[in-house]
Amino acid sequence: MSKTAAPILLFGHSGQLGWELRRTMAPLGAVVSAGVDGADHHVDLTDAEALDILVHELRPALMVNATAYTAVDKAESQEALAFRINAEAVGQMGKLGAELDIPVLHFSTDYVFSGAGDRPWKENDQPDPQSVYGRSKLAGEQALLGSRAETLILRTAWVYGARGSNFLLTMLRLFAQKDRIGVVSDQFGAPTWSRMLAEAAAQVLAQCRTPEGSFSFGLHNGEIFHLTAAGQASWHEFAQAILEMTNEDCIVEAISTEQYPTDAVRPAYSVLNNDSLWDAFGVRLPHWRHGLALCMEELLDKR
Ligand SMILES: NC(=O)c1ccc[n+]([C@@H]2O[C@H](COP(=O)([O-])OP(=O)(O)OC[C@H]3O[C@@H](n4cnc5c(N)ncnc54)[C@H](OP(=O)(O)O)[C@@H]3O)[C@@H](O)[C@H]2O)c1
Repeated sequence: MSKTAAPILLFGHSGQLGWELRRTMAPLGAVVSAGVDGADHHVDLTDAEALDILVHELRPALMVNATAYTAVDKAESQEALAFRINAEAVGQMGKLGAELDIPVLHFSTDYVFSGAGDRPWKENDQPDPQSVYGRSKLAGEQALLGSRAETLILRTAWVYGARGSNFLLTMLRLFAQKDRIGVVSDQFGAPTWSRMLAEAAAQVLAQCRTPEGSFSFGLHNGEIFHLTAAGQASWHEFAQAILEMTNEDCIVEAISTEQYPTDAVRPAYSVLNNDSLWDAFGVRLPHWRHGLALCMEELLDKR
């Protein structure tokens, strides 16, 4: 297969972000998926050999990794599995990328930071993850950056969308079932619609595509960029904004992190500074309320 005809290989096609990336990357070339359920190629990332064989056979023009072990609380008791998917498999993608000259676009998370602070985190701020999930994702970043493959890493946060398991869908279910719920009001982030995240990622990739259909990150090779919606909210404010866009009658009470204990520690302040991506690629997302309004319009329309 010639380089120009090589497809984009997407890992994580069934996830919130991957499902959207399949659509937003379509104008850039043929997108083939690798994963477990309903993928073009069956590859469980716990199976290193299967990953190796697929990439050698397919020789894609680009690998895009939207997979992750995202069960943040469960990860506390499933450390080995979280590290296999979030770190070792990512490092393996990097090694394959270096060996076969295939760039890798990877997604990471605000959980690499401690959450102790009150100004939006910049890319070069010191990571200090407080959970197994955060440590495994940081190890994935490091493994990829150390692999010598061409790489670009987009760190995002507070992702929601019309599919999968996320805060928006949980709130819509609870509003319909309950008269009163408690939502944490002392953790802050930027709720980011998976569709807009995937559109922005595709716009970045469009700038990295050569006329022959291959990909190169050029000057930005090996860089990490933050990419979330603009603005910030607490989970409570986010829930209240969702409620206001429905006809449901529910009281959303503000509670503290202490009142809602979880296995994994969550960063209290998780807002990311998105200026670098804007400076490098002229791409940024609108305010989270705008993304939420558009996502809700689509969701309520379907219902
Ligand atoms: N969700 C958030 O709030 C958030 C915040 C910050 C960063 N991120 C990052 O954004 C990226 C996308 O997250 P998301 O919310 O779209 O995640 P998601 O909805 O949980 O999707 C995860 C994807 O990974 C796949 N996957 C998991 N284990 C696998 C395995 N062993 N083999 C093959 N595939 C496997 C899943 O496949 P199955 O469907 O078959 O399980 C699914 O397609 C990740 O890098 C995540 O760390 C997410």
